[in-house]
Amino acid sequence: MSGHDARPGRSCPTAYRYPPRTLDRAPEIEAETLLVVGGLYGNVEALAAVLELAAREAAPAAIAFNGDFHWFDADPADFARVQAAVEAHAATRGNVETEIAQEDSGAGCGCAYPADVSDAEVARSNEILARLRETARGFPEARGRLARLPMNRVARVGRARVAIVHGDAASLAGWGFAHGALDDPAHRRWLESAFAESKADLFASSHTCLPALRVFDFGRGPVAVANNGAAGMPNFAGERFGVATRISVRPAADALYGTRVAGVHVEAVAVRYDAPAWERRFLAAWPVGSAAHDSYFRRIAQGPAFARERALPRAA
Ligand SMILES: [Fe+2]
Repeated sequence: MSGHDARPGRSCPTAYRYPPRTLDRAPEIEAETLLVVGGLYGNVEALAAVLELAAREAAPAAIAFNGDFHWFDADPADFARVQAAVEAHAATRGNVETEIAQEDSGAGCGCAYPADVSDAEVARSNEILARLRETARGFPEARGRLARLPMNRVARVGRARVAIVHGDAASLAGWGFAHGALDDPAHRRWLESAFAESKADLFASSHTCLPALRVFDFGRGPVAVANNGAAGMPNFAGERFGVATRISVRPAADALYGTRVAGVHVEAVAVRYDAPAWERRFLAAWPVGSAAHDSYFRRIAQGPAFARERALPRAA
């Protein structure tokens, strides 16, 4: 996509931007084990599974919800559950929280969708957002707290400096950590400067909704980008679990795949939620013919057309 596209759902508002060097700061989170949970999308069954994952750790684990924890939770009771759980842990806002915390900014869902996403899909996202904002209006205090959430967090796990973002190294809704961008040689210089300016060993991101783990060596040892895809939606064809990024001084009992940077384990772990219960809850809020059903039900039931092999760590 060339030039600036101002249509709702296509643009990336200026307020979404931050220079990568602002991530070069003292960590706000220190943990031996950190679960980064991007894209919960209002799935309360997945939320329960994430809390269980953390509880199963041998030592206390920190949780960071890095944005888009709300989305399908237009039902006020579900919204309140997600909000309360997130507030008990570390969080950053995603484009969803940023846009529901304010009245219509003209950015639509703030997704900054790339050109290969259809106009119809963008319009449906804007419609979902409008309904979710209506729910959020019923929680004015929580809405204020969402507006005040930071756009990123810095964590230290063992020796590793971790920059926790929603989109990419420079924008809340950036697509610079999408699997395609990570594998694009023309994007390599941008990545190299993002790591140099932020002094991060690892970026933990989400937003693009498809997972990818990539390892780079820019001359000071391996560094990585771990995009968890979605914690609250299926990520791989034919599979029905969410994915979170686990960063720890100890390896996970059953990781999907992983790597190591700065002596720390960086792994994708499955968020195995009660899929039939979630499907029933989703259908109650978003029946056949609704915007979310049209855009997401197929993925919720069958997973996206994305093979697990495409997410696997490789030196890019
Ligand atoms: Fe997002």
